[in-house]
Amino acid sequence: MKIKSSEILKSAFAKDDYPPPVYPEVAFAGRSNVGKSSLINTLVNRKRLARTSSAPGKTQSINFYLVNRTLCFVDLPGYGFANAPLQVRNRWRSMVEDYFHSRRNLYGVVVILDARVGPTSLDLALIGWLKDLSLPALLTMTKVDKLSKNKLSKSLIHASQTITVNSEQIILFSAITGEGKKRLWQAILSLIEPSNH
Ligand code: GTP
Ligand code: MG
Repeated sequence: MKIKSSEILKSAFAKDDYPPPVYPEVAFAGRSNVGKSSLINTLVNRKRLARTSSAPGKTQSINFYLVNRTLCFVDLPGYGFANAPLQVRNRWRSMVEDYFHSRRNLYGVVVILDARVGPTSLDLALIGWLKDLSLPALLTMTKVDKLSKNKLSKSLIHASQTITVNSEQIILFSAITGEGKKRLWQAILSLIEPSNH
């Protein structure tokens, strides 16, 4: 995908703040600090479009990015932040729930797993939730640069067995090396292509 432009459209805390649902939209979800914002930056060839941080819980609002003036990427706040108080966890749930339930132009969700950690119970809950909502999930394992080939192939097998999908359905990704960028773009484009609907 040739990127001609990318810009922030809106940073929203509630439904009323969402931009109008005029572009096909793809959201990015995963644990806090898993690398969602970095993955978005890699896809659009930008270093700091989406803010990243080594401390978990950086993205707290729902951030809408317009890509090539045709497609919207949505960076969701992370879940599972180890020390998050109940109030914060409930706020995450209601923010994301509102978004998933109301967004008519949402074509699918890129579910981002950590290659070193594998699917957690919260990741599995998200995958189940998306299934219930009939929202397509693109499964991605990021930070693959941190693992040896051998450890990575074990991690991929473990993840595919835990989620009960074919291992080919999981896209391996790295924001450091750019591995998987092409494959993920292809998967995103095939989600939103009009010929699929
Ligand atoms: P929250 O907004 O807090 O939920 O985090 P996030 O999921 O958006 O993660 P973010 O992109 O901010 O990245 C978290 C940390 O992981 C940063 O220190 C990144 O530099 C690092 N990181 C992200 N992707 C990769 C990757 O593919 N490889 C490596 N080695 N580090 C990565
Ligand atoms: Mg983030």
